Order: sequence, then C-alpha cells, then structure tokens
Amino acid sequence: MEVLISSRGHASPSRLERACALLRREAPLHWVERPDVRPFWAVTRYADIVSIETRSGQFAAGPRTYLASETSEAVLQRVTGKPQLVRSLTEMDPPDHAVYRAIIQGAFAPPALRELETWLARWAAEIIDRIAACSGPIDFAADVALPFTFRVIGRMLGTPEADDARLARLAQAFVGAEDPQRRLAESPGDTMRMAMLALRDYFEAVVADRLAYPRDDLTSLIARAEPHGAAMPHYELISYFILLVTAGHDTTALALGGGLEALLAAPDQFARLRAEPDLLDSAIEEMLRWTTPVRHFMRTALGDTEVAGQPIREGDALALFFHSANRDESVFESAGAFLIDRSPNPHIAFGRGPHVCMGLQLARMQMRAMFAELLRRTERIERAGRVRRVQSPFMSGVSRLPVRIAFRASFDAAAE
Ligand code: HEM
Repeated sequence: MEVLISSRGHASPSRLERACALLRREAPLHWVERPDVRPFWAVTRYADIVSIETRSGQFAAGPRTYLASETSEAVLQRVTGKPQLVRSLTEMDPPDHAVYRAIIQGAFAPPALRELETWLARWAAEIIDRIAACSGPIDFAADVALPFTFRVIGRMLGTPEADDARLARLAQAFVGAEDPQRRLAESPGDTMRMAMLALRDYFEAVVADRLAYPRDDLTSLIARAEPHGAAMPHYELISYFILLVTAGHDTTALALGGGLEALLAAPDQFARLRAEPDLLDSAIEEMLRWTTPVRHFMRTALGDTEVAGQPIREGDALALFFHSANRDESVFESAGAFLIDRSPNPHIAFGRGPHVCMGLQLARMQMRAMFAELLRRTERIERAGRVRRVQSPFMSGVSRLPVRIAFRASFDAAAE
C-alpha cells in the first residue's frame, strides 16, 4: 500500500504496478489508515472508478480532492483559512462547477482548437529546430516537452514567453511538492504555500492589467467573468489560474516524455509507427493509457452507499487511482504491453463524468503535432542516459529523458 500513496512509489513503475495488480485482485476497495494521512478508500479497478466518477450526485469532488499529509493540510489551511488550498473546477461541485466550467469552455471548443492547430504545427517545428541546432544529447523532457507545452497554455492565458520558465517552475512545485527536484522548501506544505503565493502575486498583476486593458485571451475572460451575476471571488479567481498553469502543461509534458520513453523501450512499436504513421492517433491513445500522468483524484461520499458491494459511509473519502484502472486486465487485454494499435482503448487518463478533462482534445493535438514533427524530421532517436521520474502521488511520469537524435539529412537540405 505504501508504494501507492508515497511519492517515491510513483517513481518506480514496476513496483507500483505490482502493488496495484495485487490490490485490483485482492482488495479493489481497500481502507487505508496511515499516520499523518486522513483515512480513505483506495479504489484501483476500472469499473469502480468509472462508476464513482459518473455517480456525481452521490460523490463530491471537494473539499478533499487530493491525497495530502495532515501536516501539509494544516500548513495550507493556515494560509487560506479554507478547507482546501485552492478552489478551482477540480474542487467544485454543483451548482458552482458547471457555471465556472462554462466560463472558458469556448476556448476548448472545436473552432478555437482549429485556429490553434496551424500555430501548434509551427511551434512544434520551431522547438525541434532549436534542438537540431544543439550538438550532443538533449533532455527530451526539459528541452522539448516542457517548453513546448508551457507556451501553449501561456499563449492562451496571454502571458509572455519570457515568463514561461518561472511560471512552469512554480506550477511544477505546486503539484509535485514532495519531489526533491521540484520543491521550493524542505516540506511539501511550505513548498505549496510558497508556490501558491508567488502564483497569486503574478496573476493578481496580470488580472489588474486585463481589467484595465482587456485582450483576446483567457485571462481577460476569467478576470471579467461574472458567475452567478457578480465578479468572481478573489480565492476562486486565483485558483482558476493555478489550475490552468498546472493542468495545462505538466500533464501533457509528462505524456510526451513518457510516450517517447515507451517507444524507445519497445523498438518494434517505434519502427512500426515510423513505417505506418497513420497509427499516430492510436499510438497517442496508448501513450496516454501507458503514462496516465494524473495519478489520482479524490471523491467524498455524500450519503451511505455502496461500490461493488462494499458499503461506503457518508463522509468517507475515496482515492481513484487512474493509472491502476488503465492497467486493469479485465478491460485491457495484455494490459502490461505497450501496443500502438490497441483497439479498443477506453483509457481514463482524462477521467470521466462531469469533471472530465477540459483540455483533452488540446492535449491530443499537442501530442500529435510534436510526434508528427519528430517522425518527419528524425531518422533515429536513442536513449543517452538515465531516466528520472517525478516523485509525487498526484502527477507523475518522466521528468528527465536524455536522448541522442539523428536528424534526416534530406530534411536539413530542404530547410536550408
Ligand atoms: C495528457 C494531458 C492531460 C491529462 C492526462 C489530463 C488529465 C486530467 C484529469 C484526470 C482530470 C480530472 C478528471 C476527473 O476528475 O474525472 C483533468 C481535469 C482538467 N484538465 Fe486535464 N489533463 C491533460 C491536459 C490538460 C490540458 C492541456 C488542459 C488545458 C488547460 C487541461 C485542463 C483541465 C481542466 C480545466 C480540468 C478540470 C475539469 C473539471 O474539473 O471540470 N488538461 N485533466
């Protein structure tokens, strides 16, 4: 059990998978009591997670939305005076959730995404140009996945590229506060507090600017929104930006890095993708299943109920482990194999139900743009050093992926 809720456990995929397989088999709803963590049910089977996610009248998303130690929770409550650190879409329930979600929905709808698609292809090409100019190995996670994905959300929010690295650092500290390379202070609670206050200060200034000088960006939309007919309360306003800078890049960056790592570990699959690039869309779905960057969200029972025959009491918290669901053998044949032509592939890397990821098509588009460019421009990609993984039970995956890339000579010539 420890492996599932500890930050280190999520940096050891095979140990983690063994633990999840055991739980799925022996104790799919497992009551966890550990020092410094409020008790909760660990839910590891696909069917049970989908059932809980879609019974939204029976399970609430807030206020306990993520696993955190009681020590961290206490630090954060001292800062906010609220039962949770932030209150964004992921923590909201009816009636607020739908009203707040509607504010930015248009930015993720097909017409807006179509407009973005052409720019995304150019942006992917520019990032690859930058690494093509480097001699020697590069770190795909830090040099490609991170700057590529952060600029997408930065562009949507209307923040300048010069701020990307700093904002990404704060966002990553906020969601990976246990990770020694991401933290800003010794304790996770202090790291989250520092990241949150810095993001608050940053977005307070951007919001003030957009209230005075509106632009065609998400920040102006959120700053001027009037959910329930009045300006958004400050806490919810800042929370909205914190959600977007975290959800908007780390997830997709981890899926890109982990996706490439999976291809490198399965050379037959990589060779097939090069030979049959039409398989790219299904390869991307498999990368999403395989990496499942968001490891869990929590729900709280609103009344006495049951899940798969297990009685659940009102007020019980349940942690839904998406990566375990995505390895569930009763849904995915050969679940432990990375197969780029897997079909069907009903993975739940984006969750399900009313909170299903808003950026799911945008994330897919980013992955398609980047991998299409890699396939087009490169002849060979090989590992050039040790992989590092994020140590966090909330968001995890590959944070360092050294690779050596051989670019196509014909493409270089054409580009000159
Ligand atoms: C591979 C990339 C991504 C993955 C794996 C991912 C995964 C998730 C998951 C699991 C949830 C919670 C779903 C649930 O509770 O059922 C979520 C929610 C959300 N995601 Fe993503 N996400 C990704 C990319 C993005 C991007 C690019 C954005 C763009 C800003 C985004 C914005 C959001 C938002 C706003 C929510 C909250 C939705 C709500 O609570 O109503 N995500 N995502």
